[in-house]
Amino acid sequence: MGQFDSAISHLEKETEKRYSGKPLARHIRSVAEFARRIAGSLIKSDLLAEKAYVAGLAHDLYKGFSHKELRDLVVAEFVPVDEDSLRIGGGLLHAPVAAHYIRTRLKITDDEILSAVYYHTTGHLNATTLDKILFCADYLDPWREIRASEPDVPALTRQALVDLEEVYCTVLYRKLAYTLSKGRPLHPNGVAAWNQICLKLT
Ligand SMILES: [Fe+2]
Ligand SMILES: [Fe+2]
Repeated sequence: MGQFDSAISHLEKETEKRYSGKPLARHIRSVAEFARRIAGSLIKSDLLAEKAYVAGLAHDLYKGFSHKELRDLVVAEFVPVDEDSLRIGGGLLHAPVAAHYIRTRLKITDDEILSAVYYHTTGHLNATTLDKILFCADYLDPWREIRASEPDVPALTRQALVDLEEVYCTVLYRKLAYTLSKGRPLHPNGVAAWNQICLKLT
């Protein structure tokens, strides 16, 4: 029996209930499985692998909700959300709402899981190993259509199993560059994560 068996069972059912047959259900399952694989091969920890699977199953549970639905949920349930995510909006709110869901409905109190889910769209300062695992697994998921145009994704996917730090840096860079290329605002958490990497490298 794993520590998170009931949470995993709940999240698997909830994913099917909400998104059965849709690409999002496939993405969620794929990310959860790859996150678990990275944790297992890189860290060789069954517990971290289980946490990675939980975080992967939870991360996009609210991705299919509209901005208005998410804002209404934030207000109605007093969901803890940073000011920047609220102000920037866009696709950012689904992450804090998912973290809130597993904390309140599934009683998950594990800070590593909650953090990985909350920050999976932006990255953040002092990211943990689990934060980085989910961040990379999400981006590298072969079922994400936008990634199909990046020919080195299969190579990065293999590299993530042995050199997570380097792949995290690449993924963070690409996400920030993509956001800038679209003329969208950068979330300060992502900027802080990037600056931290650069300052360490120089
Ligand atoms: Fe997401
Ligand atoms: Fe995702």
